[in-house]
Order: sequence, then structure tokens, then C-alpha cells
Amino acid sequence: MSDTAYPDAPRIDAHDKVRGALRYAADEARPGMSHAALATATVARGTVLRIDLAAARAVPGVRLVLTHEELAGLKQPGFLMGGGYGFQSIQPVTSSRIAYRGQPIALVAADSPEAAAEGARLVRAEYASEPHQVTLDAPEVDIVAQADSPLPKPMFADVTAGEADTAYAAAAIRITAEFRHPPQHQNPIEMLSTVAEWRDGHLTVHEGTQNAEAIRHGLARQLGIEPARITVRSPSAGGGFGQKNSLQAHTVLAAEAARRLERPVKLVVSRAQIFHDSSFRPASRHRIRLGADAAGRMQALIHETDSQTSRHDFFPTQYTELSARLYGIASFRGRERLVRTDVQTPGYMRAPYEHPAAFAVECCVDELAYRLGQDPVALRLANDTTTDPITGQPYSSRHLAECLRRGAARFGWDRRSMEPGSMRAGDGSLIGWGVAIGAYKAATAAAIAKLRLSADGAVTFSVGGHEMGQGIRTAISAVLVRRLGVEPGRITLEIGSTGTTPQHLTAGSWGTATTIPAAEEACDTLLRALEALPSRPSPAERLRAAGRPHLEVEVSRCAPGQPDAVMGRLTSGLPAAIGPAYPGYVSFSHVAHFVEVRVEPATRRIRVPRVVSVADCGRVISPRTAASQLRGGVVWGIGAALREVSEVDPRYGGFLNADLAEYVLPVHADIGTIDVEFVDEPDPQLNGAGVKGLGEVAMVGVAPAIANAVHHATGRRLRELPIRVENLL
Ligand code: MOS
Repeated sequence: MSDTAYPDAPRIDAHDKVRGALRYAADEARPGMSHAALATATVARGTVLRIDLAAARAVPGVRLVLTHEELAGLKQPGFLMGGGYGFQSIQPVTSSRIAYRGQPIALVAADSPEAAAEGARLVRAEYASEPHQVTLDAPEVDIVAQADSPLPKPMFADVTAGEADTAYAAAAIRITAEFRHPPQHQNPIEMLSTVAEWRDGHLTVHEGTQNAEAIRHGLARQLGIEPARITVRSPSAGGGFGQKNSLQAHTVLAAEAARRLERPVKLVVSRAQIFHDSSFRPASRHRIRLGADAAGRMQALIHETDSQTSRHDFFPTQYTELSARLYGIASFRGRERLVRTDVQTPGYMRAPYEHPAAFAVECCVDELAYRLGQDPVALRLANDTTTDPITGQPYSSRHLAECLRRGAARFGWDRRSMEPGSMRAGDGSLIGWGVAIGAYKAATAAAIAKLRLSADGAVTFSVGGHEMGQGIRTAISAVLVRRLGVEPGRITLEIGSTGTTPQHLTAGSWGTATTIPAAEEACDTLLRALEALPSRPSPAERLRAAGRPHLEVEVSRCAPGQPDAVMGRLTSGLPAAIGPAYPGYVSFSHVAHFVEVRVEPATRRIRVPRVVSVADCGRVISPRTAASQLRGGVVWGIGAALREVSEVDPRYGGFLNADLAEYVLPVHADIGTIDVEFVDEPDPQLNGAGVKGLGEVAMVGVAPAIANAVHHATGRRLRELPIRVENLL
């Protein structure tokens, strides 16, 4: 157990970051390198009848144009959630079928990025188009109950406990409401980009990713070569947020172009194309029924969801895995359905299920507080639990009440008056104070770690993990510094690139709970091995005294309850994580958010000047990056609540506002004070480090806290995101 708090150490990559010295995939340049660009479909569903490439080929500098006629031999990657490696099951540019608007139809490679882009723009295709549906409300849309879909059960079976319909019907107070969440796109600042290079039959791929091992094994499948002939390098990714969690559609196209041209190829997918060339947060709607007794004890919750998927894949949803766990509600019924639409397959965008689910439930809980005339914090505290209502197992740790109490004190919640519209600022703005909670499963993946100590004191550590800005290198370093007494500057971390240890998917907020226990075990194993050597004050001195140049240890670690067979999945690039249910307990991280909004009376413009957030993520390993994660989650939540939507025109399909000018995000001027705090109590069961997870829980509950604050300011219940000025006029 990490029994003392970790110190607030700086990011180990801070100087490289601010100097622009960190290298990302698209920074790679090679002599003789070609540049590639994609041409994309202008219909939402149909077949390519003819492609005219003459104009594209005539652009000076264009060297190669590939269409489905050349690439029909490439294999499909398989869908990440169906035993494969791709964000979706189908590989564009391998057949004439068009499944969605914006689907790539050709690759153009040229001597310059400009020539490639011009060539791609001049590719002319003729289509036979077919009727398409791209919204949840499309007429005659195909809706599939997830429990009846071909998805693996029991993972995606409906979540139920007790007799929710009976308990709801009998409840003294019943709240029912429907909530809508739009599609959204992640937009990491590092765009999807690949530099592919073949040398003596070996392919090296530079690509910012959360899942280097899936790219390696998926490309091997697609190209029909051994995984040993592929190396994927991703020492740093410029943001992922779930977008880079699997093999992307453009990667094999770059690799194939490089093979045919016999020269390195760089392909940077444009911002507009990313909206159609990778996964996104699907549109969803949520019908909630919440029943409570007259004292405010919640008795029944029914959560029914409809969530967008593609026509070619079932992207599964687990909204109710979270909504069933926010409170100690004895009777719960979840039902999740998938709506098949003509889009690329949606996927995991940060807090993929938890954020929309918490929005729906936490707005209803606020409504319940008002029906009861109870304080919203007191109502939440009164319905807390120590037992998971679904499995009946205890939580490994649950400090939600502590998050609420500390947050309320920091925010000054006791100065809040209950009546909507009752608080005003000096300039006449309406002030609204809102609260909401969030939770996120504490998942863990299997890991193999290698630790090497050299006699000169240098330490090299390798484990499955990807740095995408969240600070995983800083967290791992903190453990090595504490356990081995090594200076941070003497540590080399080999993560994100294949060829050392398996580079498992870093997602689901399991990065810290996966790599930190593995790092601790590796350190302990190394220190035990050193005990056989002469006693000296430091590990490196012991090595020198024994005349040993270095000492290397390897540990492999399954998550609690995982069978050893999971190592086969880990080494073949398949998902190898479990949670939140472990043998004997259930593990979640928790958070409470307190938000102040100000609504300008004439324009109804909504500002968020102040947020207080308190999180329980187990032991905090890197206080600096953890605080940054929590603030970043709040910003992400402000975007989700007030700004972000991927606009769809059902007549045309695709996404309309496919760039950062029109996909509106919070900017610095939109962000006020974000005050964060951690409970920092080690979880006693999940792992020896006491770590749960933080990345995603940080944003869960921000949107409903804002919606509840808007209600407090204006008396209006707004149940569709994003909340905009026009909704308040
Ligand atoms: Mo994620 S949305 O699990 O990277």
C-alpha cells in the first residue's frame, strides 16, 4: 500500500512540451518521403460506379492513386468490439460499397502535401446512391434491443435488480423525463497521422495512438504478414480521448502506398475528414423514471436508452452500468437499444456512457430534490450506499459522501437559497448554483513490465501504456523515484511503442491502475534480487560492488480475478481489461461537482465563472497531472453542456460542422475558476498501490451540475445538450 501521499512533482516532460521538443508522428520526415491525401465519398450510402482519375493523375508531382480496384486484396481489420482490431469492421477503399458520407474512396500520393491534396480533390466518382438514415428519429429506422443483438453476453445484457416497474408504480413521488445527447467528436489537437516506412520487408509505422499493439496486429492481418514484421511507434500522442483506441481506417492505406512506392509515405488526415474517418460519440436519448418515498428515499430507477450505431457494426452501450450505481437504489431496470444509422461506427469518446447517463439521472435527482423541497446535497448524501445495488457486493472503496461534503464546504453551498431565480449578481445577472455527482468504473488491464537497473544508476522501464498528455510518464516516474531512490533524469520509459513489452490499449481510465501496480511489483522484484548482492546504500552501488553491469527483471500481472489466459490476449493486441466487478467487490471512482452559472438577463448568455470538483480516485500518484486531469475533465464537461454538437443534415448524411471553426468548443475566455481537490485515500483492495482511476470520472456529472445550475438561475429544466442561449429565450 502506498501509505503516504505522493509529493507534487513537476511533469517529467514539461520542458520538452513547452519547447515543442516532443516529437509526434507527423513530425517524422524521411528522405524521398511521399505525402498522401484521401478522396472521400459524397453520398451517404450506395455504390461507386466509376472513378475518373485522369485529372488527379495530371497534377504535377502525383505519383500514385489507389482505389478499391487496386486494394481489393487488403483484408478487413475486424471490429474492436467483435474480436478484431479496427474502430469499425470495414476497411474503406477495398470495395465499391459506400456505407457513409465522407468514407474514403481513393488515396493520392505525391511529392508534396499540396499536390496530394489537389489530386485527391480532383478524383471524380459517380455513384448509385441509396436511401440512408442518419438520425435517431429517422422514419422506419432499424432499432435493435442490445440484449437481442449478436454482441457478447453477459457483458452487454440488460442491467437489472429487484422489481423496478412495481416499485416505481408504488412510489410516492415519481419523476419521469427524456434526455437527448447529440453526436460529438473528440478533436484531439494531434490529427490522425501516419508515417509508414518499409525497410527489408519490415514495416515501421509512426502514429499517435492509444493502442500500438492493435495497430501492429491489425495491420498484420490486413496486409497478410507476420506481426513480427511490423513495429508501431507512438512515444507521445497529442490527445486521444478514445478516438485513437484502435486501428484507424487510414493506416493500412498509408502502409500500402509506401509498399507500392518503395518510399516512406506520410498521411495526415485533415480535420474535416477526421469527422468521418474515426469514431465519435453517438447520438443518444435517455428515458428516466425515478421513484422515491415521501422522505426522499430513492426506491426505483428505470433507465431506457436508444443509442446510435452504424449499419455495419453494433457499437455496444453500457449507460446503465453507471446509472444503476450512482445511488443505493434497490430496484433498477436498464434497457439499452441500438439505432442503426448510415455513419461510420461510433465509439468511445471520453466517459462514453457515464457522461450521458449521469446527465439524465442527475438532472432527475435535482428535480426530485425540488419536488421534496430538500437540499440537493442532503438528498444525495441520504441516498448514498456502501453496497453495489446490482451485484450485492461491497465497493472496494467509495468516498462519494466525502467528495460531496468537502465540495459543499469549499464552494460555500450553505449560502445557496433554494428558490430558482432568487440569487442575483450586482450586474443583474441571474446566479445559479448546481451540484451533481459522477462515477466511473475502476478497470484494470493485464500488464507485462520490464525494469533494468544499470551500475551507473540509470533505470529503464517498459510497460504497456501510452502517453497522450494525461501524464502517465510522470506517474510511473513518481513510483520509480519513490521505490528506487533514482533521480527522475536517470529514468528512461519505453512506453507506447511495440517491441519491448505488449502495448495494450490505454483507455477506460485504467492506465494508472494498470501501470503503477506493475511498476511497484517490478521495483520490489528488483530490490529482492539485489538483496543477494553486497549491502550498499543505493541499488546502483550494490550492482557496482558486485561487479554487475546491470540487472533486469520482468513481471507479468493479471488484474484481480483475470485468468492467466488473458496474457494471450495481451500479447496479441486484443483488449485484456476487466472491471468494475472483481471477485468479492466492485470498484468505482467518484466525483462531486459544484457549479456556478451566471445568466445575463437580456441575452440569456450562460457563463460558468466557478467550479469546485472533489474526486475520489484512490491514491493520487501524480498530484500535478491529476489536478490537471480533473480541471481538463471540467472543461470537457463545460464543452459537453454548453457548446459541442456534431451537426447532421438528414438529407445528406455526414457531419456538417467538420472543423474547429464550427465545432464550437470552450476557449480560455469561457473558463473561470476551477478549484479541484482529491480525497486521496488509497483503495484497500483493487491493487497494492491503492489506485483506482481518474481520467474519465473527472467529466462525469459536470453537464448535469451545469443544467441544474441553469435551472436554479432560471427555473427552466433543459434536457437536451448542448444548452444554448436560444433555449433560454
Ligand atoms: Mo477512452 S474514451 O476509454 O480512451
